[in-house]
Formats: sequence, structure tokens, C-alpha cells
Amino acid sequence: MAPANRAAWITAERAVPLEVKESEYVAPTDNEIVVKVHAIALNPVDFARQLMGAKLFPWTKYPTVFGTDVAGEVVEVGAKATNRYKVGDRVIGLGNGLETSRPADGAFQEYVVLREDLTSLIPDNLEYEQASVIPLGLATAAAGLFQADQLALDLPTAPARPPKGETVLIWSGASSVGSNAVQLAVAAGYEVISTSSPKNFDYVKKLGASQVFDYNSPSVVADIVAAFNGKKSAGAYAIGFTAAQPVIDIVSQLTNGPKHVAVSNQPPAELPEGVTAKMAFVGGLKATPVGPAIFNEFVPKGLADGTFVAAPPPKVVGQGLESIQGGLDTLRAGGLSATKLVIKL
Ligand SMILES: NC(=O)c1ccc[n+]([C@@H]2O[C@H](COP(=O)([O-])OP(=O)(O)OC[C@H]3O[C@@H](n4cnc5c(N)ncnc54)[C@H](OP(=O)(O)O)[C@@H]3O)[C@@H](O)[C@H]2O)c1
Repeated sequence: MAPANRAAWITAERAVPLEVKESEYVAPTDNEIVVKVHAIALNPVDFARQLMGAKLFPWTKYPTVFGTDVAGEVVEVGAKATNRYKVGDRVIGLGNGLETSRPADGAFQEYVVLREDLTSLIPDNLEYEQASVIPLGLATAAAGLFQADQLALDLPTAPARPPKGETVLIWSGASSVGSNAVQLAVAAGYEVISTSSPKNFDYVKKLGASQVFDYNSPSVVADIVAAFNGKKSAGAYAIGFTAAQPVIDIVSQLTNGPKHVAVSNQPPAELPEGVTAKMAFVGGLKATPVGPAIFNEFVPKGLADGTFVAAPPPKVVGQGLESIQGGLDTLRAGGLSATKLVIKL
């Protein structure tokens, strides 16, 4: 018999608060797995989607279930899934509800349906709440760094590839997307130059960046251009709402290497000559080999041998689906630095 399920529903466009009530347990088909959720991480997109309604993901049908980041245990495996997983395995995965709007695909529930190609096995010594911070940050980082229409870097390996002799700029290394991007680029053999607040310089360097600059410094653009002196650039990833312009200013002044900028949010309409910029889309991972290469191949090996760590560190702000709305309100209030809010179930 299917287990009872509950979800934190959004019942109508812009409805606040989320409403916790029963939800259908949906069995996996094809390459899906069902995961019993033990921890959920919260992302800016979750509250933005709730508050902005049809301005974001306008195809969303209500009622539905939001949420992307889960860690939990496999309870059922679809008929066309590979033999990668068995019941009881500990995994993380990316909820697909942003794309499908199917309630079963949203992370804010006790049993979620995940695509096998966007899930990773996690080691026994990694707590669910630590691991839950990974999926959307990882997916967004991978989309910008590795997709053929973005920076198209070499894929990462564990242990890391030897240095390739190319440098990539990752703006906002202490953000969730940036914490993943720095590590992925280093594991792929690239030198990383990054930005953060000074209090996070050591954190971003520990993730693998060779140099970190204060994004609030008035000389940050000139300082980073100077840091690229004598280096071959592999392009840049502009992470954050205000990141695109300074990063484009830097890349336009680099003379050795491609001038493409992957951006986490919309790029400006006007670009300097020779510079290209494009928004990274997590949805694109589903149609390319990058998704499974990162989630299925690299992350389990990287977590096991230490090439990759779950980052930024979690801050548990509640237990149970009833705590999700409060967690989203805290996230929206801002002021968080190098941390990700997590709800335990
Ligand atoms: N395209 C997609 O599919 C997609 C998916 C997910 C997220 N995003 C976007 O990606 C961005 C990052 O998301 P996230 O979840 O990683 O954010 P996050 O973890 O909440 O970012 C917080 C961090 O951003 C840093 N930061 C704040 N202002 C900054 C600035 N002006 N310059 C550089 N860094 C700054 C802060 O670093 P310090 O503490 O060091 O100051 C802080 O630690 C957001 O703009 C989000 O909308 C896009």
C-alpha cells in the first residue's frame, strides 16, 4: 500500500502562507525515483515564485508544491531507471516542479518524485541537512560552467583534473551557486578567481579559489583585470542580481581567451563588442549529458574522496513542513552570508 504523504501546498497564485495538508503519493515511472525527504534546503526562487506569481514560471498551475532541494532515502525506483539505486540508498536530488508544475515533483513534501539523472548518492557520514544544500546551487553552477552554449569547460573529475593553465572568474563565490561553481571549476582543472565579502575570503579560498576580491571595493574591476595579467581566461560566471555588469566590464578588458559570460540572472541588453552573455538555465541540464555527468558521476565520487564538499553550510531553521513558510520569510528578510537555510523533516 502506498504510504500517506503530506505537502506544503501553495493553493493559488501568490498565496501566503503555504498550507500543509495531505498529498497523493505518486509512484515513479520511467527513470524516476521516489525519495522519502529528510531535509529540504530553501532558495531565493522559492519565495520569489510565491510572491511574484505569474512573473516567474508563468506556466505554473495551482494548487501545486514548490521546492527544489532535497536529501532523503530512496523508497521506490521506476521501471526504466538504471540499476544505480536501491531502496534505502541515501541521496540528494533536484525537484523538477519548476518545470513540470506537477505537485509530485516539488520538494516541499514527505515523498517527492525525482528524475534519476539529477540525483546523487551521498556518503553515510554526510548528514541529510548538510547534503540538502547542494542540488539547485550545483545544477545552476553546472549549467553555466559546462553546457555547450555557455562556458563549455571540461567536466570535473574526482580526484581533480591536473591544472589546465586557464583561469575562470566566478563572481560571488560565497553564494550557494558560487560555492558549487568554485569547486566544480577547480575539479575540472581551472584556476578560479572569485569575489565575496572580506569575511568570506578564507571560505572561498578553502573551496579552491586562488584569489578572492571584495566585490564592494571601488577598484574591484581594475584589480581583477590586473589579476588576469599573463593568464589565459576561460570566461566568467556572473552570479547574483548585480553581478553581470562588473563581470562584463572585466571580461571586455581581457585579451587572452574567450569573452563569454554565463549569468545567473538576466544579462543587460547592451554588451561591449566581442562579449557574449547568456543566462544559465537549470532546465537545460535535462536535455544534455551535463546533468548526469555532474549529478550521477562526479558528485558521489567527489563527496566520497573530498574533491567536492556540501557548501555553503546549512542553518537548520525548523523541523517539519509547517516550518517552511517561516524559513522562506527568514530567507526573504536577507542578510544571510555563506549559509543556506534548511528544514528537517
Ligand atoms: N538561473 C538559474 O537557474 C538560477 C538558479 C538559482 C539561483 N539563481 C540566481 O543566482 C544568484 C545566486 O543565488 P544563490 O541561491 O546562490 O544566492 P545566495 O546563496 O542567497 O547568495 C548569498 C551570497 O551572495 C553574496 N552576495 C550578495 N551580494 C553580492 C554582490 N553584490 N556581489 C557578489 N556577491 C554578493 C553574499 O556574499 P558575501 O556574504 O560574501 O557578501 C552572500 O553570501 C541569485 O541572483 C539567484 O537569483 C539563478
